[in-house]
Parts: sequence; structure tokens; C-alpha cells
Amino acid sequence: MADSLYTRLGGYDAVAMFATQLVGQAQKDELLARFWENRGQDRIDRELQLLIDYLVNQTGGQMYYTGRDMAITHQGMGITEADWARFIEITGSVAGDLGVGPTEGGEVMDFLDSLKADIVTA
Ligand code: HEM
Repeated sequence: MADSLYTRLGGYDAVAMFATQLVGQAQKDELLARFWENRGQDRIDRELQLLIDYLVNQTGGQMYYTGRDMAITHQGMGITEADWARFIEITGSVAGDLGVGPTEGGEVMDFLDSLKADIVTA
């Protein structure tokens, strides 16, 4: 059987690094920063770990995801097409920085695209 996307991305450490950089850059982004305003660092740390768990779980790693589903999590946040486009742009740049290859990068993008309708509701 072919290796899972999780394995090909480099396993837990690679997925954790990817998620950490993604959230770090999204929080600093002038368009997206508003989503994390007035949230304590402890809450942000907890969300980051849930994102890591979710990504590990969804890409084929051995992780039991204890968070909420994507629609419930993001409902009412008012995430727009423009927010999504910026998020995807940041994802691409983080993937580039971490040396994710075109095949794996494409699979990550396809996966994100499959979540879009649940997350972009504004
Ligand atoms: C523009 C895009 C996005 C924005 C602005 C955004 C924003 C947020 C915010 C503000 C939270 C914290 C929610 C809370 O404290 O109640 C959150 C939680 C979360 N997000 Fe996103 N998100 C985006 C895209 C995504 C994507 C693409 C994924 C999956 C790959 C994702 C996975 C998660 C997870 C797993 C949580 C934690 C779930 C839980 O609390 O149970 N998000 N997101």
C-alpha cells in the first residue's frame, strides 16, 4: 500500500511544524488577525494542538481527534472568500518554506478545498 500523506509529509513533527507556522502567520496577518483577537494564549495553544491532532488524523496518522467538526467550529465566525484566499496563500507559503513537494502540496490543497464549504460561511 502507498504511504499515507501523513508519512510522506514527514510524520508528526512535520505536521506539527506546519500547523504551528500556519497559525502563527495567520494570527499576524492583517486581514486574518481579527479572528484571534481577545483570545488568551492558553486558548490559542489549545486550538493549535487540536489543529495538529486533526491534521494528523485526517492525513492518515494515528491520532484520535477530540475537537469539534469543521462546520460547528467555524460557524458564526463570518469567514469570507477573501479570508479563505488569504489562508490558502499562507498555507502555500508555509508549505514552500518547509519544502513540501508538489505532489503532497497538491494533496494538502485538495484536502483544504474539501473543507471550504463548511468553513466559509460569509
Ligand atoms: C480562513 C480560514 C480559517 C480561520 C479564520 C479559522 C479560525 C479559527 C478560529 C478563530 C478558531 C478558534 C475557535 C474557538 O476558539 O472556538 C479555530 C478553531 C479550529 N480550526 Fe480553524 N480557521 C480557518 C480554517 C481552518 C482549516 C482549513 C482547518 C482544518 C484544516 C481548521 C481547523 C480548526 C480546528 C481543528 C479548530 C479547533 C476545533 C475545536 O475547537 O474543537 N481551521 N479556527
